[in-house]
Amino acid sequence: MKTIFFTGKGGVGKSTLSATCAWQLSEHGYKTLLVSLDPAHNIADIFDTQVGHKKSKFTKNLYLQEADLDKAASAYIEQNIDILTEVYSYTKAFNFDTYFKVLRYSPGVEEYASLTILEEVFRTETDFDYVVFDTPPTGLTLRILALPNISITWVDRLRRIRKQILEKRHTIHNITGKYSEKGFLLAYDEKKDTVMQKLNDIWHRYVNLYKLLKGADNSIAVVFNPDYLSLRESQRILEGLKDLSLPLRAAFNNKYQDDLEETAEEVERELFGTKRDGVHIARVPLVAAARRDTYKNDFDVTGVFR
Ligand SMILES: Nc1ncnc2c1ncn2[C@@H]1O[C@H](COP(=O)(O)OP(=O)(O)OP(=O)(O)O)[C@@H](O)[C@H]1O
Ligand SMILES: [Mg+2]
Repeated sequence: MKTIFFTGKGGVGKSTLSATCAWQLSEHGYKTLLVSLDPAHNIADIFDTQVGHKKSKFTKNLYLQEADLDKAASAYIEQNIDILTEVYSYTKAFNFDTYFKVLRYSPGVEEYASLTILEEVFRTETDFDYVVFDTPPTGLTLRILALPNISITWVDRLRRIRKQILEKRHTIHNITGKYSEKGFLLAYDEKKDTVMQKLNDIWHRYVNLYKLLKGADNSIAVVFNPDYLSLRESQRILEGLKDLSLPLRAAFNNKYQDDLEETAEEVERELFGTKRDGVHIARVPLVAAARRDTYKNDFDVTGVFR
């Protein structure tokens, strides 16, 4: 299974080009799934059909899905409340139910929800040749892609702290004897400590995701337009991907028209210089506004991914 992420500023054509790409791959005979990770989905509008939260068949080789980010966010919070309730089971001081609503709208939840969906797709859709992701505008996408990396660093630190706590417990345990009838017997063995187990699970999950995102079977594409506003934001994406050590495979200068050649060239030069570092750059022509099925752009956007 190969995966492709279309990223870019708002309105540059991420949804249209991810739809075009998925459509063309399926027409080439590849079994393809197009998944929208944008809370403001519009795959249904693009294909002028009904698309649900579960994947549905559009043609013989093309499946469409608008991921249920709301449900994933709630599931993520519920799962964490369960863990917190379990960890703090010896105290009645916290009533986590009251925090549920607040947590639902906390920063980061949307991103973690998207990661849960990514993980599920990576795990369950392996019989597809390609999974193409339509993503929300720059900021959110970069934060989603950054999360595995950031989480690994955090969980590493938490594991170290937990290890120290367990070592202290072990020392106390040795001083006070093996079992106190009145006391609450807390685990000090890493293998028996549920918190350490959970941290280890989370660590492995994010390491795995980060590997998949960095791997040779994943491609990240940036979409931009031949204009200077889109240039600045594309520069931020390129910098973000560089910081995360995630490789950019393709750049699509979308909505290109011949009379924009000079600007198109300047924007491409400012973004990639003359070296281009192995990034495939293509100009995707503007499709006539009168056409309903914009995704049927004749210009091939799949070559670089095949
Ligand atoms: N090559 C093209 N030719 C003509 N129109 C295009 C082309 N690409 C995109 N468009 C049009 O540009 C508009 C924005 O495209 P699209 O919704 O794909 O952008 P987006 O980057 O996904 O936007 P958002 O950030 O809001 O998700 C749409 O009206 C779409 O039909
Ligand atoms: Mg879109």
